[in-house]
Amino acid sequence: MELIHAIAAMQAVADAARDKGKRLGLVPTMGALHRGHLALVREAKKKADHVTVSIFVNPTQFAPGEDYEEYPRTLEADVEALESIGGVDVVFAPSAEEMYPFGLPPFATVGVRDLGRHLCGAFREGHFEGVTSVVTRLFLACRPDIAVFGQKDAQQLAILKRMTAELGFGIEIIRHPIVREEDGLAISSRNRYLNPAERKQAPVLSQAVRSVSKQVETGERDVAALIDAMQQIVASAPLARLQYAEIVDAENLQPVETLQPGRYLAALAVFFDGTRLIDNTTLEIAQ
Ligand code: PAJ
Repeated sequence: MELIHAIAAMQAVADAARDKGKRLGLVPTMGALHRGHLALVREAKKKADHVTVSIFVNPTQFAPGEDYEEYPRTLEADVEALESIGGVDVVFAPSAEEMYPFGLPPFATVGVRDLGRHLCGAFREGHFEGVTSVVTRLFLACRPDIAVFGQKDAQQLAILKRMTAELGFGIEIIRHPIVREEDGLAISSRNRYLNPAERKQAPVLSQAVRSVSKQVETGERDVAALIDAMQQIVASAPLARLQYAEIVDAENLQPVETLQPGRYLAALAVFFDGTRLIDNTTLEIAQ
């Protein structure tokens, strides 16, 4: 496994692998790797024969006041974790100067328009432009054929899918399901900020999305009723403070009032003190 910090070196390694007829896979991360990330890496190994994992805590996707400074940076442990699962060819870990050589904020960005108006986008000013702009740079540096992203960040995934199709990157975006703890809590680097009492109540997020799925299975189509049920489940945890609970069209990410045949996303964000957790589920309504 090779550790690369420079874009030019990364591009040279990618081009050499492609010249050998290899199919290149990329798993973009911000490090502090956990079981969720490693599942994405395993998926990439199945779909590609040269795998790069990028580790970069991207400053442009943190709004002022968010946890950019405190975000865990554990490169040594991350490299060890990737070594231990095996099959990763490159860890690409650039510096902020390498990724943004003209300084911050960057001049060249990718806008997200309506796709960033709801869900997390309504509360995290500039976040998704930061994500599209860094993922574009990672695609240009790593030149993958496929890239794997987690359904845990459903809005991010929908936006990146749309960006990749619209800009004609020719990269296949692969969706990996949410990896959870035994009690349902979606695994996240931010779970480590929870104190024991908060951690005990954190499964309310997965309970809320599971309840929506179940109600939809038994025929509920009224979005206000479904959102109300999510709100009530979160309210049952005294330490939880709901930021939003929404149901949107899975592709254009705009709110809907009733569920017609199609695909939707039920998603919520909840604060436990300063720690913000998210969860979601896809809803499929058959014709
Ligand atoms: P990060 O939060 O490190 O997540 C990297 C990838 O792992 C994302 O695709 C995310 O959806 C996925 N992931 C995290 N936890 C998961 C879980 N419990 N189950 C399944 N997938 C999970 O998302 C980012 O970094 C950044 O925004 C990035 C795309 C790297 C751009 O900076």
